[in-house]
Amino acid sequence: MMHAALLFSLLGLAAAGSPKPAKQTKVLFPYEKTVLTPSSIRSFPSLSFGDVSKPVHSKPKCRTFPGTSDWPSVTEWSKFGNFLNGSLLRPEPAQAACYPGPLQNQTRCQWLVTQAGQTHFWLDEPLTTLTEWPQGSTCVLSANATGECERGGWPEYVVNVTSVRDVQAAVNFARNKNLRVVIKNTGHDFGGRSMGAGSLSIWVHNLKTFEYLPSFTMGKYTGPAAHVGAGIESFELFNHMFKSNISLVGPGWGTVGAVGGWVSVAGHGTLTSKYGLGADQVLSINVVTADGQFLTVDPFNHDDLWFALRGGGGSTWGVITSVVVKAYPPINTVTVPLNFGNIGFPSNSTDGTYPLPIRVATGQPPPNTNFMNNKPDQFWEGVKISYHYCLKVQELGGYCFSYIFPLGNNSFAFTSNQIIPNITASEAIAALQPLYTQLNALSIPVSLPSSGQILPTLYAGNGQRTGSSNPANTRYRSRLFPRKNLVDPALWNKTFAAIRSGVEEGGLVFHGWGYAPTCKKAGYPGCENSAVHPAWRETVLPAALMEVIPARWTAAQAKVNDEHTYKYTDVFKQLTSGAGSYMNEGDPAEKNWQDSFFGVNYKKLLKIKGKRDPWGLFWAQTTVGSEEWRVATADGYPAGQNGRLCRV
Ligand SMILES: Cc1cc2nc3c(=O)[nH]c(=O)nc-3n(C[C@H](O)[C@H](O)[C@H](O)COP(=O)(O)OP(=O)(O)OC[C@H]3O[C@@H](n4cnc5c(N)ncnc54)[C@H](O)[C@@H]3O)c2cc1C
Ligand SMILES: *[C@@H]1O[C@H](CO)[C@@H](O)[C@H](O)[C@H]1NC(C)=O
Ligand SMILES: *[C@@H]1O[C@H](CO)[C@@H](O)[C@H](O)[C@H]1NC(C)=O
Ligand SMILES: *[C@@H]1O[C@H](CO)[C@@H](O)[C@H](O)[C@H]1NC(C)=O
Ligand SMILES: *[C@@H]1O[C@H](CO)[C@@H](O)[C@H](O)[C@H]1NC(C)=O
Ligand SMILES: *[C@@H]1O[C@H](CO)[C@@H](O)[C@H](O)[C@H]1NC(C)=O
Ligand SMILES: *[C@@H]1O[C@H](CO)[C@@H](O)[C@H](O)[C@H]1NC(C)=O
Ligand SMILES: *[C@@H]1O[C@H](CO)[C@@H](O)[C@H](O)[C@H]1NC(C)=O
Ligand SMILES: *[C@@H]1O[C@H](CO)[C@@H](O)[C@H](O)[C@H]1NC(C)=O
Ligand SMILES: *[C@@H]1O[C@H](CO)[C@@H](O)[C@H](O)[C@H]1NC(C)=O
Repeated sequence: MMHAALLFSLLGLAAAGSPKPAKQTKVLFPYEKTVLTPSSIRSFPSLSFGDVSKPVHSKPKCRTFPGTSDWPSVTEWSKFGNFLNGSLLRPEPAQAACYPGPLQNQTRCQWLVTQAGQTHFWLDEPLTTLTEWPQGSTCVLSANATGECERGGWPEYVVNVTSVRDVQAAVNFARNKNLRVVIKNTGHDFGGRSMGAGSLSIWVHNLKTFEYLPSFTMGKYTGPAAHVGAGIESFELFNHMFKSNISLVGPGWGTVGAVGGWVSVAGHGTLTSKYGLGADQVLSINVVTADGQFLTVDPFNHDDLWFALRGGGGSTWGVITSVVVKAYPPINTVTVPLNFGNIGFPSNSTDGTYPLPIRVATGQPPPNTNFMNNKPDQFWEGVKISYHYCLKVQELGGYCFSYIFPLGNNSFAFTSNQIIPNITASEAIAALQPLYTQLNALSIPVSLPSSGQILPTLYAGNGQRTGSSNPANTRYRSRLFPRKNLVDPALWNKTFAAIRSGVEEGGLVFHGWGYAPTCKKAGYPGCENSAVHPAWRETVLPAALMEVIPARWTAAQAKVNDEHTYKYTDVFKQLTSGAGSYMNEGDPAEKNWQDSFFGVNYKKLLKIKGKRDPWGLFWAQTTVGSEEWRVATADGYPAGQNGRLCRV
């Protein structure tokens, strides 16, 4: 642990006359005051704490697995369950209602297929993750299910966490018993990082506490802050902001967790071009590490974890139970939609008649307007101009959330929302007028809305965020396109040509987030001692090629599909050498993922991983140190989680 005064002197802040460094401000929720004590485990040695200096007696070749001789006995599981006093679950897959067997129930199956996705059901379900394929497709939800429902990549047991004591007991039990551990919050991960066959899942979803801290000091920061429990979803965070009359940087999508994977990797949302990434907001983190200890990590305590937990990935350093983040005054945003395409849509297709990628990717189809018949050159030139113009939107603290959709028959649609905080409608219109003038000059039939149509709306609790989410199988390959790729005219031409070919020739959806989270925007602690991929600080077009893959296909089909996609993403990489990819919206089978997801920080992170988790207890696909282990998938599917975890 680095002493505060030493850290300050390293930062050059200890000069005479400068204010004394603040003492640690430890903020705990009631559920963080119920902890595991040595006396409480005297009669249950399986819950003993670990010692990082004496990590392992023998390095197991594999994690234990159901059916093997070292899998804990029924008696041990029940002793563990009794200790947890109701928090240990052994859930059956909900999808089993659709399969022949004792759990079959047609009524329930119909409801799951047609209704559950519009409710909060899948978010409250202990096993489900919203991206299904890494599970191994052994129990796909379907009204026409045949064969057997097998557990596949879903965990064996789940700890429904209610206290730090539950987390510590789970971590210690798993480590001492050589169990595979997964950590699950909302299950939004696109790469199977919150599931695993034969595992014990530590499920933090029900840690829903929130507290507004009107005045909080941490190092150079003094001001309003918020203490956020690990299970809070974005829509809940927005409701809390509304009640507390504040703004926080939160995930754009309503059901993404505000504390788990999102904040651990980078985390983007509506205020990211104004205040930085999710990880930049963090002032203090409460976490249970691999040895079972409960720590408060901040700029003055546990320097290595302070670095690693902000950008170094989820499911790697410990189980976060809450964070304290910076808060800002309440704010309005103005949204200016821009939609055009080079085909005419059927006049009444307001729902399911749009192609699948549109519905899945956006949740709703784009408005049925502004389609120009068969003018692909003007279309692509207009899209190119629109992406470039986003630099202006970013100067105003805004972003451009966009998609380019291939619609078949050499037809395409472009949809982009320009979202700008703290601006009047007429200022937003004036700022975008030059873009519309250029688009009209290309005969693209778009017109700016009137100021009455784009009234500023309160960012907090604006009523548009919901608590529902449906499992799907979207695959992302992302790239953080740097500013230079847009401002150098020749390079921008090449870059845009590559984007165009991914959509036009590759048939993939291009999705741009359009944020610019520079270090300046991030403020303090922001970029200081942060593991966020430095490419985020240079990017003006974080973006991805995406596709919807079938829930069920063979490993051979997956391989063919990967090769097809690499043709386009490899060009992105060549044109953006030194940039990276956003792991949360990247591919779990990414080549050279260490470089893509962590860049220059990888070596340092790997050292910290070795020191803090010499057991390799926390493991997930493409996280730091994960190359030492591999899932032997039952079907050979790359990056799948249906198999035993063994050392490479
Ligand atoms: C529909 C949808 C919309 C999205 N929108 C956005 C968006 O607007 N902005 C954005 O940046 N990203 C977005 N994402 C991507 C999102 O950031 C990632 O899916 C992220 O990993 C979700 O984190 P989670 O904790 O909610 O999910 P989980 O799948 O539960 O967890 C993700 C990872 O974090 C780990 N983890 C979870 N909780 C903890 C914890 N308490 N301690 C340690 N590790 C933990 C898990 O083990 C796993 O590896 C979206 C994803 C989906 C599916
Ligand atoms: C166990 O759970 C019951 C019911 O929820 C509760 O009344 C009791 O206090 C709990 N015991 C412990 C030791 O936490
Ligand atoms: C089947 O599911 C329905 C709806 O969830 C439920 O009401 C009913 O009790 C279930 N039937 C059986 C036999 O479990
Ligand atoms: C499932 O069955 C329904 C009718 O029962 C049918 O309309 C549908 O096409 C079937 N789906 C598949 C994937 O077979
Ligand atoms: C998990 O625990 C919470 C209480 O913290 C409870 O409300 C919820 O029903 C439990 N979930 C399951 C699936 O048992
Ligand atoms: C909310 O905060 C703003 C500025 O911080 C203040 O002007 C306003 O009066 C507050 N509103 C309420 C209802 O407290
Ligand atoms: C809309 O489309 C449906 C078929 O998708 C068709 O049955 C209906 O008549 C159409 N309505 C109008 C107003 O065109
Ligand atoms: C593609 O174009 C052909 C010929 O114009 C038409 O028959 C067909 O329906 C179109 N397909 C789609 C998916 O629009
Ligand atoms: C919003 O803009 C006004 C006027 O430009 C400025 O005074 C104010 O500080 C801004 N508020 C925020 C939260 O940025
Ligand atoms: C870039 O492409 C545009 C057409 O989109 C062209 O007019 C321009 O000359 C090109 N610039 C360079 C430097 O290649």
